[in-house]
Amino acid sequence: MFRIFVGAGLLLSGPALAQLKPGAGMDTVEANCAACHSTDYIRMNAPFLTEQVWKAEVAKMRTAFGSPIDDAVAAEIVQYLTAQYGPKK
Ligand code: HEC
Repeated sequence: MFRIFVGAGLLLSGPALAQLKPGAGMDTVEANCAACHSTDYIRMNAPFLTEQVWKAEVAKMRTAFGSPIDDAVAAEIVQYLTAQYGPKK
């Protein structure tokens, strides 16, 4: 199901939309999460993801796909993703 959303997102969004929301940790995410796919993957999946799920998502990027980030960086990324792309309180 995520895959369908990601595909549609990549088709619909131009470069102008491929921007992360400004916030603490944004640079870290851009440096570590845009190596294999655009940050559109984050934006398109954002409405569904809570902190718990972002954690699992970042863990999957590390274990399944081999993203070479360490625990401290992963924690910063999860924090940014939850703050900027978590569910609205
Ligand atoms: C080593 C390569 C690599 C890196 C680095 C990477 N990803 Fe991914 N990511 C992938 C691949 C491959 C997919 C596509 C999986 C699929 O098609 O199911 C993906 C898909 C995604 C998705 C879509 C949902 C899903 O699970 O398929 C999200 C969200 C995502 N990545 C977030 C991140 C974040 C956040 C980071 C930074 C911590 C990151 N990625 C870094 C390889 C990577």
